[in-house]
Amino acid sequence: MSEAGSLVDELRALEREARDAITGTSDSAALEQVRVAFLGRREGRVSRILRQLGGLSPEARPAVGAEANRVKQVLRGALEERERRFARERADTGTPARDLTLPGRDRWRGARHPVTLVVDEICDIFARLGFTRARGPEAETEWYNFVALNTPLDHPAADEQDTLYLKGGGLLRSHTSPVQIRILERYRPPVRILAPGPAYRRDTWDATHAPAFFQIEGLAVDEGITFVDFKATLSEFARRFWGPGTRVRFRPGYFPFTEPSAEVDVKRRVVGADGSVEETAWLEVMGAGMVDPAVLENVGIDPERYSGWAFGMGPARIAMLKYGISDIRMLYENDIRFLSQFA
Ligand code: DAH
Repeated sequence: MSEAGSLVDELRALEREARDAITGTSDSAALEQVRVAFLGRREGRVSRILRQLGGLSPEARPAVGAEANRVKQVLRGALEERERRFARERADTGTPARDLTLPGRDRWRGARHPVTLVVDEICDIFARLGFTRARGPEAETEWYNFVALNTPLDHPAADEQDTLYLKGGGLLRSHTSPVQIRILERYRPPVRILAPGPAYRRDTWDATHAPAFFQIEGLAVDEGITFVDFKATLSEFARRFWGPGTRVRFRPGYFPFTEPSAEVDVKRRVVGADGSVEETAWLEVMGAGMVDPAVLENVGIDPERYSGWAFGMGPARIAMLKYGISDIRMLYENDIRFLSQFA
């Protein structure tokens, strides 16, 4: 056999051997070993034959060279094909490529809404003073929202400009005070309740008004309750909520369902980082008063025997003071960038 003929045969045998080896691999690392064994520049078996080309006679050289190049081409193609298959299999197993150098991502954590924080804190303080949490419907009747609360329907508060009336009759409660009536209808004194919940008014949507907003109603009715209980309980609450140095002021006010009525202001003491003590301006925090005897009569409670006091406050406004929030809309827009600061 000619020298060219035997080398061409040797190349064809190598080609079969290499194809079998490629088919037998099960991962990229094994495939790379096969590539090096046959096509590696220095030690590869095909490369070694190519290096012998120089020693061949000029007649034999072209045939062997051409065959060697063909085998190289074929094996490269087979290696690539096998590698593509491994890549497809990796993608199918659903294990994504992970970039371990990427910065970590924090898990998103929920938090309580700042108004909820304030409502809960206020309810906790009153719970320790003997008050139970209560609630009533948000869709109310004129009786519960106005008339039973000693507010005649020609009172400006009942005007369509102020209250949202519902189509089939009824209205969205304009304050949480109707819960006073609902509770006193069902329970006889002694009654001590706190009723947090939403209230609705035909108000503009601006920095200080929202058409839907939170209120907390408070009510205490028992035998022998006086203005002293009223002032003492609310002062005690203010000092527990705003701090022991807080001053409380009761200014005369007017509400149809209380007599006498008061606007309650607080003046907080702020201790600076250097230990200096400053007092804030007077801040109005609630409306309050002694329950009007007409209200007790409306629910069949004898005002000669029983008396009580009540208050209504806006926890959104209190949250704004507490956390330094200047626009009430931030509390109701549910923007996560704002709310997550309370986490
Ligand atoms: N309901 C009143 C309002 O929405 C607030 C209020 C004032 C409630 C005095 C009371 C009270 O219980 O005694 O403006």
